[in-house]
Order: sequence, then structure tokens, then C-alpha cells
Amino acid sequence: MKSLVEAYRALSDVYLKGSWIGEAVKRYPALLSDKGAYRLVYSVVEREFLSEYRIARLTEKPPKGAVKLLLKMGMALLDEFSVPDHAAVNAVAETAKKVGKGGVCGFVNAVLRRYAKEGKELYPTDPDELLSVKSNRPLWLVKRYEKELGAAAETRLTEKPTVKTHLRPAVAFGKDALRQALKDKNVTFEETEYGFYVGEVGAVSDLLSEGKATVMSYGSAEVCENVPYAGGKILDLCAAPGGKSVLLAEKHKAEVVACDLYEHRVELIEKYAARMRVGTVKPTVWDGTRLREEWKQSFQTVLADVPCSGFGSLASNPDVVLNRTESDLAAIVKTQKQLLAAAAEYVAPGGALVYATCSDLPSEDEDVVNWFLKTREEFSLEKQQYTDPALGGGECYYFAVLRKR
Ligand SMILES: C[S@@+](CC[C@H](N)C(=O)[O-])C[C@H]1O[C@@H](n2cnc3c(N)ncnc32)[C@H](O)[C@@H]1O
Repeated sequence: MKSLVEAYRALSDVYLKGSWIGEAVKRYPALLSDKGAYRLVYSVVEREFLSEYRIARLTEKPPKGAVKLLLKMGMALLDEFSVPDHAAVNAVAETAKKVGKGGVCGFVNAVLRRYAKEGKELYPTDPDELLSVKSNRPLWLVKRYEKELGAAAETRLTEKPTVKTHLRPAVAFGKDALRQALKDKNVTFEETEYGFYVGEVGAVSDLLSEGKATVMSYGSAEVCENVPYAGGKILDLCAAPGGKSVLLAEKHKAEVVACDLYEHRVELIEKYAARMRVGTVKPTVWDGTRLREEWKQSFQTVLADVPCSGFGSLASNPDVVLNRTESDLAAIVKTQKQLLAAAAEYVAPGGALVYATCSDLPSEDEDVVNWFLKTREEFSLEKQQYTDPALGGGECYYFAVLRKR
């Protein structure tokens, strides 16, 4: 593994600067050609709560910042990679020197040696804390799942998904052509209802840049499949980076008004629609919680794919649990309710409102929809569904189709 320094830098972007892991790894091109180092970055994040627990048990005063990060890297190397213990410890010490942390080498060395000898079997005895380290979620969230899902919580939390990349064909290119292109390239794939899981995205980069295919999670494709369409323009109230807007525009040859709160994210919609050669997406900067008079009752189809915790997408974004607190969740739910209530105003009589999240926590899903239905008797629930994680690459999204009288 050559790129340990880059792995350290990507991780410090995640832990110390608040970057998303997917963005952090892209910043260090060496990681993209060093599978081991790339895997190490994800592995450290996927073992966050276990490492925190063990560091607390193995040190009198747990270190902070860079030192803690070096320990987490070392522990992941010792546990998850076929590297002899002494080589793993030395590699981390060398990395510490190269990133200007030579002064802590002795400490890091000593803790990792102790870890290799007596730390690998350390687990909490309290059942909730044990579930927290096994499921890589904070304790408050484990308790929340237990409260909301009851007996089903443990299975949901301990499912170990295999991370897979899901591709969908551009509608004009088609699934048969994409299957053939994957075969021609000797790419291993697994077919799904909406596209293909592929092992190696690098091998299909030309298909992506030519707009013949795109990376889209199974769960997102499933939401789009269930968005009713009966003509006219579609309103996508929370649209960036544009995945669903573009697919809906392609599929229905419809104009999609694609809003997002942030200008920089609206630019992502623009770029994505251009890459997919779709000209009917209209990117719009707009705060979806505010009412816009001229849109009232004007759309037969409105999508509210609201901001959420992302807890259902942990398989590909393990970092979403790193800094979330219970009060963040309360604030997210409040915004979700505001967005759903505003979206409802734009639905024409007889039209459909689709509420969607990439969370599997009922308080962001069914509970929001039930709250809505209690306050808006002109809407009824036509369908609601969670993605089956076995089909969704370990991910579990939610959508509800609400019909307006
Ligand atoms: C789950 S993402 C949408 C994903 C998108 N539908 C797709 O498929 O590519 C939620 C989006 O809501 C946006 N957002 C957050 N608050 C908003 C608001 N008040 N009004 C409009 N968009 C908002 C976020 O910037 C984020 O891009």
C-alpha cells in the first residue's frame, strides 16, 4: 500500500475539516489507483465507533485530532488487511513522520503494539453499546432505531452490505445497449430492474462522459419509477445534484422545474443535465420552504426529495453518522415537514405528490407523511415503500405517493 499519506490526508479532511468522504477521496488521485489505501479510508470510517471504544480502553487520556486518526488507521490496518502486525505499525509510524507528526511516533507505536497484543477482542458488555460498535452508529441512534423499529432494529442495524455501484442507462441509449456495452468491455455486472451493478466504474468512464449511462443508486431509480406522470411540467422541489430531475425529464420527455436552495448545487444540476444531453431540465435557485404564488396548483407531478439524515445510504456514505446529533435530526424533520407542506400547495387537483428520503428511520418517513395526512385531508396515501436493502445494494430509501383530490 503506497498511498498511506494520501489516505491520512483524505481522512483528515473528513475528520478534521468536515469533508464528505466521497469528495475527500477524489481530492487525492493516488488513492484512485491504490485500492488498498482507498479501502483503508472507508474502513477507518466504517469502524469509527469500534475504534473510539478501543482507543478509550487502551489509553489513559484518549488523544485527539491527528494522533487519534493515526491510531484509527493503524487499528484498521491491523484488523482488516493482510499485513504483518509489525509492518502495519511501522507503516503508520512512517506516515506520521511524513505528515509532520514525527513527535507522536513513540506514542502511536506503543498504543498500536498494545492493540495488536490485547486490543482486538475488546468489546462493550452493555448490549446497546455493543450494537453501537457493531453497527457503526452512535449510541443515541441505536436507541432511536430500537424505539422506532422494535425487534426489527437489530437485524436492520447489523446488516453488512456489500458496497456496489449501480448504473442506469440513459433512456435514449437503453438497457439492452448498456448490457451489450458492458459485455464488450468485459465488465462484470449484475442486472437489476433499473440497470446494472458494476464492480469497476473506471472501465465505463467513456459511457458516463458520453451520457450513455450514469451512476444512480437503485433506490433513487426505484423512486423515479414510482413517480406518477400525467402530462405537463414536473416540479422537483429539492433537485440537486439532479439525478431524479434528469431521469424524469428523459423518461417522460417533460420539462422539469428543478429547484434547490443553493446556487452552487443548482450549478451541479446544470452540469449533470448537460452531460446527459437533456435540455428540458430548468435549474432554479429557490428555497422550497417559501411559497411561490405562480406555482400554486399548477403541477400534476411534484417531487419533494427532501434533505434527510442519509441514514439509509450508509453502505456508500458511511460518514453520514460521524457528526449527527439527535437535535440535528429534529431540525431535519422540521424542514422536511415545511418542504412537504409547501410542495403540497403546487399540486394541481388530481395530481400526485411524491415525498422521498434516503433514510430508513420512520421518523423521517412514515411519521412525516402521517403528520401531513392528518393536516391535509384533500390528500390520500396511494403507496409507500422502503427499498429492499438486498436489492438496493444494502441501501434503504423511502418514498410515498400522495394523491390530491
Ligand atoms: C436528497 S437531496 C436531493 C437529491 C436529488 N433529488 C437527486 O436525486 O439528485 C436534497 C436536496 O435538497 C436541497 N435543499 C435543502 N434545503 C432546501 C430548501 N429549503 N429548498 C430547496 N432545496 C433544499 C439540498 O441542497 C439537497 O440538494
